[in-house]
Amino acid sequence: MSNRLPFSLAADGAACRSVGGLASALGGVGELFGLVWIGWSGAAPSHRTDAVDAAERQAVANAAQTLGCDCRSVPMNQGEADGFYRGLANASLWPLLHDDLAHFRYRPDWWDAYAAVNERFAEAVAGAASPGERVWIHDYHLMLLPGLLRRRRPDLRIGFFLHTPFPSADAFRRHPRREELLAGVLGAGLIGFQTRRHLEHFEEAAQRIGGHACGAGGIRHRRGRTRTGVFPIGIDASRFERGLADPATAAYAERLAAARGGRRLVLSVERLDPTKGIPQKLDAIEAFLELHPGQKEEVEFLLIAVPSREDAPAYRRLREEVEGRVGRINGKHGAPDRVPVRLICRGVGFHELCALYRSADACLVTPLADGMNLVAKEYLACQPEGGGGVLVLSEFAGAADELRGALRVNPHDTLAVAGAIAEALTRPEDARRAALAPMREHVRTHHAGGWATRFLAALDAAAACSRPQPRP
Ligand code: F6P
Repeated sequence: MSNRLPFSLAADGAACRSVGGLASALGGVGELFGLVWIGWSGAAPSHRTDAVDAAERQAVANAAQTLGCDCRSVPMNQGEADGFYRGLANASLWPLLHDDLAHFRYRPDWWDAYAAVNERFAEAVAGAASPGERVWIHDYHLMLLPGLLRRRRPDLRIGFFLHTPFPSADAFRRHPRREELLAGVLGAGLIGFQTRRHLEHFEEAAQRIGGHACGAGGIRHRRGRTRTGVFPIGIDASRFERGLADPATAAYAERLAAARGGRRLVLSVERLDPTKGIPQKLDAIEAFLELHPGQKEEVEFLLIAVPSREDAPAYRRLREEVEGRVGRINGKHGAPDRVPVRLICRGVGFHELCALYRSADACLVTPLADGMNLVAKEYLACQPEGGGGVLVLSEFAGAADELRGALRVNPHDTLAVAGAIAEALTRPEDARRAALAPMREHVRTHHAGGWATRFLAALDAAAACSRPQPRP
């Protein structure tokens, strides 16, 4: 269960693939485990009628069939989507969980909508799940759901996985409904995090805010014990291998190379989101161009920034800021026959993406905070055996805990990021190869399917331990 299905329906019922880590990682897993995926279709009509609901169900069934997955939608109207998704989830929890207090907002009516939509998800699964079935709940949109479901169906094996970071207890305390949020998540038998740091933060919050005792892989509370664990998410690496082998990828890579005319490529790919640190990255690119003027002829920066949550003012302002900054950098450092920074504000096709990853001499993944960041892993999966580029990686992305061979940076340190770009572009081939090989192997072996298998096995083990034991 997640807020986002693997696709979203537009107002005319057309489906487009969802972007973001959760959708891309779970995409391949559904088929593997025969999952039923329950979530919101993205449709938010002002009024719901039986006819509107029936049309939505049909559009969801069609989209799910095209993607080869089994999906059910939980309907929302516009008011609910405003309060639940745009309000509490995106303007309250998302910034707070990413330690971005400047964007953190709270309104009681958002909370009411959040609670009501979580109830609706609980009803949807409580009525449909077989006895003892596993229910895997994903992400911050559904933090109340484990508790609500536990009350309705104590027989279910309920797991919760947080794809985002979890901040320090001091930051989380800011949320006026912190106790309810914690109690909701603790309704799960197992809670999974991307990194140990996020798990430790959650346990600190459970102790200091909830007054619970933590230790030995779990948290004790009134209902019993919830297990906790670190389960770093992976990608479907074989999908990228197949993509790279496709002639469409090679053809696109050739076109890219011809268009670049021998200039080197530094790539970044992300959703246009304040947590991704795009203005800070532009500061570093500008510093690099100023410190290395000779490189203006040699390097091209390509930023693929996929629009996201476009009706949120902070996101609209961010897009304007990024477009303005890129224009100013190009105005200052460009020439009639080249621009140093190209910005594309739309998603690119899968084969284009594979070709871009494969062609890029360096990839800049510099979020201010990120649960994992799967772009870093996708870039590595697309590097050729025995060669390839350099990953410049923020120390605040969960991926930095695993990908030790990356050039690690603090995205707030402009000159250090500019220096890392210069180092990435001058690293000798044998040093690049030595850093890449173990990371590429890690990404291939620690894939999304393995992540799901590990989580679900731990969920079964947690359920077995909490079952009453027969008396000797
Ligand atoms: O926690 C990560 C995630 O679930 C990603 O899938 C995505 O980047 C984001 O959160 C949600 O984005 P959206 O608001 O578009 O569903």
